This record gives sequence, C-alpha cells and structure tokens, in this order.
Amino acid sequence: VVLVVDFGAQYAQLIARRVREARVYSEIVPSTMPVAEMLAKNPKAIILSGGPSSVYAEGAPRLDRALFEAGVPVFGMCYGFQLMATTLGGTVDDNGAREYGRTPLSVSRAGSTLFEGTPTEQSVWMSHGDACSAAPEGFTVTASTDVVPVAAFENDEKKLYGVQYHPEVMHSTYGQQVLEHFLYRGAGIEPNWTTGNVIEEQVAAIREQVGDKRAICGLSGGVDSAVAAALVQKAIGSQLTCVYVDHGLMRKDETEQVEKDFVAATGANLKVVDASERFLNALAGVSDPETKRKIIGREFIRVFEQAQLEILQEDGPEVAFLVQGTLYPDIVESGGGTGTANIKSHHNVGGLPDDIEFELVEPLRQLFKDEVRMVGAELGLPDEIVQRQPFPGPGLGIRIVGEVTKDRLDLLREADAIAREELTAAGLDRDIWQCPVVLLADVRSVGVQGDGRTYGHPIVLRPVSSEDAMTADWTRMPYDVLAKISTRITNEVADVNRVVLDVTSKPPGTIEWE
Ligand code: XMP
Repeated sequence: VVLVVDFGAQYAQLIARRVREARVYSEIVPSTMPVAEMLAKNPKAIILSGGPSSVYAEGAPRLDRALFEAGVPVFGMCYGFQLMATTLGGTVDDNGAREYGRTPLSVSRAGSTLFEGTPTEQSVWMSHGDACSAAPEGFTVTASTDVVPVAAFENDEKKLYGVQYHPEVMHSTYGQQVLEHFLYRGAGIEPNWTTGNVIEEQVAAIREQVGDKRAICGLSGGVDSAVAAALVQKAIGSQLTCVYVDHGLMRKDETEQVEKDFVAATGANLKVVDASERFLNALAGVSDPETKRKIIGREFIRVFEQAQLEILQEDGPEVAFLVQGTLYPDIVESGGGTGTANIKSHHNVGGLPDDIEFELVEPLRQLFKDEVRMVGAELGLPDEIVQRQPFPGPGLGIRIVGEVTKDRLDLLREADAIAREELTAAGLDRDIWQCPVVLLADVRSVGVQGDGRTYGHPIVLRPVSSEDAMTADWTRMPYDVLAKISTRITNEVADVNRVVLDVTSKPPGTIEWE
C-alpha cells in the first residue's frame, strides 16, 4: 500500500485516485495519525498531500521527523513539500511569494528521478503562499519557477522527493508522469494493482465473512448497490437475496433494467416488490417538497422491511448480513474508521422482532466511484447500469413540481426518456454530470400547435456539470441538441407545449428542483 497523508482540503482523495490510476493501491490516512501507526501498515511509499495551512501558521499540522528516517520513500506535494523542507532543515520563507494557478516550471535536471523524459519547460498548477528558498542538506534542487527558487528537490539516496506544485491536478501537464516516476523509479513499486485483483480479494473476504449464513441487499437501481450486489452474488451465490422496491417513481425502463439485465448478468436471486400503488396513494394531494420526501422515505423503509421480514421467514440459514454500497469517499469523509459496523434496522413494521441486527457487508469500501464502475463492467453488468448518472432516491417524485399523479409521472417519463436519448446520441453523457428533467405541473402557458391554441405545461431541462454534486454549473450544451430535444418533447409528449433551460449554477440553485 501507498499511504497518502491528508493535510486537509480535498487534495488527498485526488492523489489517492491518481496513485491507483498508476495501478498502485493507495489509502488515505489523517495527518494526526502517529508515525509508528503509519509505519505499522508497511507502506511501500508515503505521499504527503497539500493542505490549506501555511507551515508557519499557529496549530498548522506537523510531522514527526521519524517519518523521513524509516527508509520508506516519501513524496511531498505543496504543503507536504514545505513541511518536508522545514522538518529536514531547509528554508521556507514567509515572504509573500505567492503563486496561484497555471505556472511555468523550469526543470534544471532533466534526467532526474522525477522529471526524466519530461520537457525542461512545463506547465504546473501552483497554489501556495510561502516559498522554499533552500533545500535541506543532501537534496538536489531539480526545478524552479520565476518566483520560487526551489520548486522541486530530490534525494535519491534517502528516497525523499518533493514538489511545490500539485502534480495530481489535470492542469499540471506532466503531473501523472512525475507521480509515476516517484512510484516506479523512486520507490521501486511494480504497478500491478487492478480492479480485477479487487474482485478476487473481495470475493474471498466476503466468503470468509458470511460463511454459510444468508445476506440481503437492497437494490436502488443506482451503480453502487448494483455493483455491491453483483460482487456479493459472485462470492456467495444463492445465499444472497436482493430486494428491489419499485416505488413507481423510476424513469422509463429503469425497473426493467434491474429486473432483467441485472438478473441476466448476475444470476442473482431478486425479489421485486411492486409498491407503486402504495406510493401513489401515500402521495395523493401532496405538493410540498419536504413532505413528499418524508412520505417516500417512510414508505420505502416500510416496504423494504416487510420484504426483509418475508425473507427472514423463509426456510434456510440465518439471515445475518446486509450488503451496502458504501464507497471509499464516504469512509474517508466520516473519519476513516476500519472494521465492520453493526447497524440496527429500523422497525416501524409491526411483527418485526425488535432486536435483529445485521452485520454490514461493504465490498466497495476501498473504492472510488470510477473504480466501482470498472468493477461493475468486469463483473459483466451492462453499461446502462454501470454508467448511470446519479438519480435521487425519491426519483421522479421530486421532479414533478406539484402533486404527483400517475398521468404526470407517465408524461415526465416520456419527456425524460427523449432528453436522455438525445444526450446520449450527441455523445454528451460524459460531459454532463446529470440532467434532471422537471415537470412544472402547476404551471400552464398558452401555446399554438397546428391551428389550435394549447394550454399546456412547461418541461425544464437542467443539465449540470459537477465533480461531486456539492457545487455545479449549468452545462453549456450545443444549441442544436437543445433544439432537437425541445422539438421532440413538444411534438411527442401530449400536454407539453414549452421546453425551458435552467441556467442557474449551484449555489444558489440546487441541482434538483425540490
Ligand atoms: P441537490 O438537488 O441537493 O442534489 O443539488 C445534489 C445531488 O443529490 C441528488 N439527490 C438525492 N440523492 N436521495 C438521493 O439519493 C435524495 O433524496 C436526493 N436529493 C437529491 C441529486 O440528484 C444530485 O445528484
């Protein structure tokens, strides 16, 4: 394993992903972890991430010098670089020498371990206040910028390396190459980690964990639960039962994808509960967004628990495990605990024993989203499932502004299917994070079609670009694609006479309308 020491901000996750793209397994540890604990993980190399602090700020994270004396190769980036410099006796000046954004870097030792084979002038991404003016003893300075005399240093004997910039971001043109040089040349690591190894490892681990008991997995139609289920299915076959609650708020063909394609690809034991009537009844007369969300959430738990109860009552070994599609970022963001948590399922359904506890099986807890997609593809899941864009749990229920009725759902499903079809045909699926299609059911406007006046509803297109859904911008997509979607929706979907584009970023708008 390569450890990425997290000094704050979001850099560590990106670095960990880049290391894995170099086919080397990486894990993130907090900078507060004692060095002895880091070394106990037997890391083949350690990378120190950037961070928001100045090394001179009061309370700025520090590092124990022992980290550099353990014989483990270390690569410091940005804050990690400055910390390495000051800890080992170099000089970092707090002199206002700032650099932000794309910066030209001059490489002074073209054949160095880090820069071998890269041009002597290259563009890198900087984001720092203080600057290193003297490398520690024993280090060779290998790059500089107009502002920073020491922008990279290397000590091949001790296997210690550092760069002032952020090699992990796309704007550092040779960043990935420099990172790979550290891993392969500096640290001597063989690049052999693949998602294929993950499948083998996880299958063995799941078999060991579950033994001859049974497990349940809730499928939502999303990527994570589908891949988690497929992995567990591969490990324990018929000991797994998947439950899919059809709340009637899915998009066109999505329920069929789970019912047919997922089962065809995995052979999983699937229990589909058609609860659409129940959800529609519960939602009747409700237009307040929060109330809709609460109702959908509540009904979902009830239906899922009822299904669980039925499975518990079937003949067979004890049902002791619940499979969840938790991903690595969830684990890192919640403090990075290891080990398996026990959760109690919520029992609002009469008849469920009060004290069933499931142990969690979380086979994706080491993986990033893009890796989950690769694992899914290797497990034979179809693209329609593996490449799915995010879709909210409450489904189309929160994309109808106004009361949710069957007719409105059918109408929105048609409009949404047309938009998705055209976005895919235009090759825009990768550029667009997601594109909610929203029905303004309580709004009508006047239009004209053929010779007649119409009085129909608007459909809103909300294409957004984003990295993580926390912030987003509206996607500047080609007018001809918008025109085609608009023409088709107004022609093909009855009662819709207007298509409008949402040009609001997040913030202030959210991605969904409700
Ligand atoms: P907002 O609308 O808050 O959405 O900008 C951010 C992201 O979260 C998705 N979303 C949800 N996902 N259950 C989910 O599983 C929900 O209730 C929910 N609400 C919003 C939304 O689609 C976007 O990707």
